[in-house]
Amino acid sequence: MLVDGFGRQVSYLRVSVTERCNFRCQYCMPEKPFSWVPKENLLSFEDLFLFIKVAIDEGITKIRITGGEPLLRTDLDNFIRMINAHKSGLDLALTTNGFLLKEAALKLKNAGLKRVNVSLDSLKPEVAARMAQKEVLEKVQAGIAEALHVGLKVKINMVPIKGINADEVLDVLEYAKERGMSIRFIEYMENKFAKEKLQGLSATEVQEIIGARYPFKAIGRQGASPAHLFEMDDGYVFGIIDPHKHDFCEDCNRIRLTAEGMLIPCLYFDEAMSIKDAVQKGDVAGAAEILKEVLRNKPEKNKWSEDEQNETSNRAFYETGG
Ligand code: 5AD
Ligand code: SF4
Repeated sequence: MLVDGFGRQVSYLRVSVTERCNFRCQYCMPEKPFSWVPKENLLSFEDLFLFIKVAIDEGITKIRITGGEPLLRTDLDNFIRMINAHKSGLDLALTTNGFLLKEAALKLKNAGLKRVNVSLDSLKPEVAARMAQKEVLEKVQAGIAEALHVGLKVKINMVPIKGINADEVLDVLEYAKERGMSIRFIEYMENKFAKEKLQGLSATEVQEIIGARYPFKAIGRQGASPAHLFEMDDGYVFGIIDPHKHDFCEDCNRIRLTAEGMLIPCLYFDEAMSIKDAVQKGDVAGAAEILKEVLRNKPEKNKWSEDEQNETSNRAFYETGG
């Protein structure tokens, strides 16, 4: 079992396999970074896997593959197959923008993937194109349909931004609900890479919009998940993630690994340690020691607090995998 310096049990590892992305979402990566991390700095799947094995053996039970856009990395299904073969019963999931999902869904499912989270910010082609700065909607919807078709569980992520897609909260909710998918509305998190002056809907505003059409009751959070859950009269449950209220930090169970091998204790903070040398030397004990050191340094809470509006994180979400 892995426990951090504040007594929190850590069981969830997010692994970003690339910072590269084929979208330019306004809230994440509006411009192509000045330079990408050179390909040779990326850890190979073998190296990442060595660390993942250590993490699983130490007590990680849930792994989410993220990016950038993880499906840009070739043979991702083989990577998933490797992880799945190491330990059965692992909760193995993927976060994707959905653009390449149609072609990948069956291979991913056959490799042992159980769940995908797909970003869907709009159901209007022109709005989706404005948000991602690319024509994306048709392919994303085809990807979602195929994922459902092959039997993956699909969860939709929406980041409602005022003046762009905030008027589609109900439409996207209904789209997810009609197809048996869950949905999470995520409050926009300020970060220095995003387009300037974006204003996200607050969790309260999202609740007001939904409540005006569908009565619901709050049912709290589930385990260590940051989403506050709400149940509609017909039993459908949706979630809202409000990082500005760091109540979920109290039982945060996650750490993150970047594609370059930086192990990050909290999304917000800069403290991180590299596992690169250890895994490239095949040093299992060294990798386990770094894991424990990072856990000792895991901070108590993030800093997107409501009274410190100017606080932003210096780290890009496309690097850390959101
Ligand atoms: N604020 C909130 N959510 C974000 N994501 C990326 N950047 C941000 C941000 N600035 C989330 C989106 C996307 C997922 C990969 O990360 O929900 O679906
Ligand atoms: Fe790419 Fe996801 Fe960032 Fe959009 S939010 S730019 S799809 S990594």
